[in-house]
Amino acid sequence: MKHSKSEKQIAGEKATDYIKDGMVVGLGTGSTVYYTIKRLGTLVKKGLKIEAVSTSSATTKLAKSLGIPLVSANDVSRIDVTIDGADEIDPRFYAIKGGGGALLYEKIVATISRKVICVVDSTKLTNQIGRFPLPVEVVPFAYKHVLKKLAKNGLEATLRLNEDKKPYLTDEKNMILDLRLGRIESPTELADWLNGIPGIVEHGLFIDLINEVMVGEKNLCKILKR
Ligand code: 5RP
Repeated sequence: MKHSKSEKQIAGEKATDYIKDGMVVGLGTGSTVYYTIKRLGTLVKKGLKIEAVSTSSATTKLAKSLGIPLVSANDVSRIDVTIDGADEIDPRFYAIKGGGGALLYEKIVATISRKVICVVDSTKLTNQIGRFPLPVEVVPFAYKHVLKKLAKNGLEATLRLNEDKKPYLTDEKNMILDLRLGRIESPTELADWLNGIPGIVEHGLFIDLINEVMVGEKNLCKILKR
């Protein structure tokens, strides 16, 4: 029996339509972009010539296993197109990312990309972001002080743990605090405030970074443009 594709697979695969010969491509992280990377691997085997910048050790491992040529962010002067997922995204394309812990490299790669395409299933669309806990990457040296500062300002955060109940560490060996906000009234104000706290390396609020959203909806792919 043939299984129908999931919404993640529909969106993830469709995004490869944007990738052309000679491009430098940013590869996001997660279970939606997984399908982008798998399809890209097939296209590379068929002769597509690209170079890719990975946003995590997990993506690097997958891309390498598929024979996708990788370069580091420092080896390129720009990235033509980046394809990445999101945990939540609103109609302005403000997004929460970092559920998979790769927010720091993802944000850097998005910032140096000419175009960022977000691939999601229909459950990720929301009118107001904040229901998904906001990931904040902190240096281990200061994490308790950052937690205290957040609590003082009424923000409830928990230290992310791995399966062994030890602190989860990012590819940069930082920790992640997940902020339970419920709703974020002003994402820009919150982003600016978090950016000003010493010890915070990056947060998962992506504002004015995403150009297009590809949404898997039932068995179709809807393309949203700003
Ligand atoms: C990883 C991310 C992912 O893009 C986000 O968590 C969405 O993942 P998925 O496609 O598996 O739902 O930000 O840091």
